[in-house]
Amino acid sequence: MARARVKSVLLEAAVDPEIAESLTTAWILERDFLLEAPSESSARWVVGNPPYVRVGEVDHDLAVRYRNLWPLMRRRADLYIGFFEAGLRSLEDGGVQVFIAPDRWMRNQYGEPLRRLLDEDFALELVVDLHSTQPFASRVAAYPAVTVIRRSPPSSTDVLRVRKGVESVTSGMITQGRAATQEPLIERSELLRESGHRWAFAPQAHVERLRRSSSTFLSLEETGAVVRAGIATGADRVFVTSDSTLVERAALTPVVGPKDLRSGELSWVGRYLVNPWRDGDLLPLASQDLPRLFSYFEDHKRELQNRYVSRRNPETWWRTIDRPVDENWRRPKLLIADINHQIEPVLAGEEFLPLNTLFYITSSTWDLEVLGGLLMSETAGDSVRAYSVAMSSGSLRMSAQYLRLLRIPAPDEISAEDAKRLTTAFRSRDRGEASRIGARLLGG
Ligand SMILES: C[S@@+](CC[C@H](N)C(=O)[O-])C[C@H]1O[C@@H](n2cnc3c(N)ncnc32)[C@H](O)[C@@H]1O
Repeated sequence: MARARVKSVLLEAAVDPEIAESLTTAWILERDFLLEAPSESSARWVVGNPPYVRVGEVDHDLAVRYRNLWPLMRRRADLYIGFFEAGLRSLEDGGVQVFIAPDRWMRNQYGEPLRRLLDEDFALELVVDLHSTQPFASRVAAYPAVTVIRRSPPSSTDVLRVRKGVESVTSGMITQGRAATQEPLIERSELLRESGHRWAFAPQAHVERLRRSSSTFLSLEETGAVVRAGIATGADRVFVTSDSTLVERAALTPVVGPKDLRSGELSWVGRYLVNPWRDGDLLPLASQDLPRLFSYFEDHKRELQNRYVSRRNPETWWRTIDRPVDENWRRPKLLIADINHQIEPVLAGEEFLPLNTLFYITSSTWDLEVLGGLLMSETAGDSVRAYSVAMSSGSLRMSAQYLRLLRIPAPDEISAEDAKRLTTAFRSRDRGEASRIGARLLGG
């Protein structure tokens, strides 16, 4: 199709038909871009819509060859990461690459090496965030973004976000959006680069606040709070039960997940971990004091042995993936569901062990209710939104990695009066009040 079109353009320009034919054949090649990429520094333009495919879905041997050639494409990455790398390497000085591709790499872990390459060696001139539009004829699960990258020293990056309700984008809108401060269809801001090659995307006013707050405040963990993920078992069907008589009572530990959090309160639905650990050590199968626990594990031996963690540790096949460390979780904590549209911290007592669909915060410096009030504020939510990967549902991932990036005042910088008001707002789930105080304290 491409050859026919190019040929017709050449013919219109009165090129000799035979020459037109040989040129189109020479110019337009169908190849594996990852195996036969253009040579280093040979291209002025690279334009593409690379495949949205997990490396894991590609034939194993081929995937190994790809990864050897394009080291930025890590195990969990998508193929498009390799296309970015191959395309960028082929750019000559001043050459430009324009891709439309999923935008996850700009925020997630597997995108870190690509972000580093761009932070250090290329100018990412423009990102057009297409979240609110559907640029493809058929729906795709990923959120695409257009990126314009030049091989030249790193520069600041314009981020254009198509406003809600605008369904299609034209190049004219983009040109105008870059030039004007106020454009009705497109909102412009600047990409905020943080340490560790983390990028934040937010409306310009938030970018300025985030920049101020990273010089004014400490990160959440530097103020003495620790963010952890709950425990992964690898087989919740076996390890999590609502039956309080399933095994010996001493081997049942109350667990909590998103199900137990209802509109800001802990409302325990009554589930337990069938717990193979005691004081941080795996209980031996031969242990005489818990016969029902071990016969239960024996009954589910095949399923448990099938887990990756058991195949790697066959002699301890009854373990959960993570080992719950008492001193980490056996204390009051704030629970935060991993997917939500805002931060909804919920206070839980020391008896509850969080499952891995929750993150939890403990602290020996913070009064957790004061911290909870601060986290409930819209300003805190906006900050996490700037770092987090948005889901197609519009929800956010509240992973530990994003929560840890929050910048807040230290507990002793919060006046007794504000602390009292935050506590009250937290207890009464008054997000409006929490937001008013948060805006003032987190303003930076
Ligand atoms: C997202 S589609 C884009 C298709 C078309 N360029 C467009 O914009 O409509 C990605 C394309 O990349 C092709 N593709 C997948 N792996 C490839 C590879 N290793 N080398 C070259 N093309 C590849 C797929 O066949 C698919 O047509």
